[in-house]
Amino acid sequence: MAVIMDGKALSAKVREELRLECASFSAKYGRAPGLAVVLVGDNPASQVYVRNKKKACAEIGYLSREILLPQTVTEAELIAVIDGLNHDSLIDGILVQLPLPVGIDESRVLRSISPDKDVDAFHPENVGNIVLGKYSVLPCTPAGVMALIREYGIEPAGKKCVVVGRSNIVGKPMAMLLLEANGTVTVCHSKTRDLAAECRAADILVVAIGKARYITADMVKPGAVVIDVGMNRDGDGRLCGDVDFSQVSAVTSYITPVPGGVGPMTIAMLMKNTMTAALTHAERKAND
Ligand code: GUN
Repeated sequence: MAVIMDGKALSAKVREELRLECASFSAKYGRAPGLAVVLVGDNPASQVYVRNKKKACAEIGYLSREILLPQTVTEAELIAVIDGLNHDSLIDGILVQLPLPVGIDESRVLRSISPDKDVDAFHPENVGNIVLGKYSVLPCTPAGVMALIREYGIEPAGKKCVVVGRSNIVGKPMAMLLLEANGTVTVCHSKTRDLAAECRAADILVVAIGKARYITADMVKPGAVVIDVGMNRDGDGRLCGDVDFSQVSAVTSYITPVPGGVGPMTIAMLMKNTMTAALTHAERKAND
């Protein structure tokens, strides 16, 4: 039976450390770190994520600003809002919740966020720095996965790491971080010829494809570490991951549950990135 990797507990530990750090930051600089979250439209899943981010900010002691824009907002109007936040000295981090409505060019919007306020690390400058192995912030979900792996003493060096999914948000940066940790990395996707065989070769398998319980026990090497980034609803409306947890947990050494695995880590890493950005801004101001 596998060890269940408790993302909820590790997230709580990281957020508690940040709460203490926030208190000393506020005492030293006379203000709290500030995070602005921009939500366009009324996607219910996005509304839940935004609510959770606001709650995490309140618990740690950050200033949080929520900017709700209608589905009909134009790209130029959205970029103007971001520009205002770029110039706002109380705001250290800006997060534009994805997906954006069709008709808005996501990459143009993400490029309009000042790289030093880009707490998602989605700006091309930050993406480039990550590829080069020199960065100050990491995208929240892959960073959360790495933090969980490290917490459980799992060492990617020399291991065969397979990432299923090649999104800009998870799959691609995840592959870069495992590579930097000296894993031997394979990225699989919808055109991969024999996905089951690729997955079966993995010592560390990270799955981010958004398909309910897609990874079954026959696709996993006995004793492997399995990280499930999926967050889906099954036919009965129940929350589940991309991995068939009940089957797969019987063959792995470590596995993350859904919910309570990677999800809570994403928010913890966003909070950490906000502190990193705030420290950069505060120290820059102090040295002016
Ligand atoms: N939508 C789903 N995941 C994310 C994320 O990590 N950041 C943002 N901005 N939007 C998302």
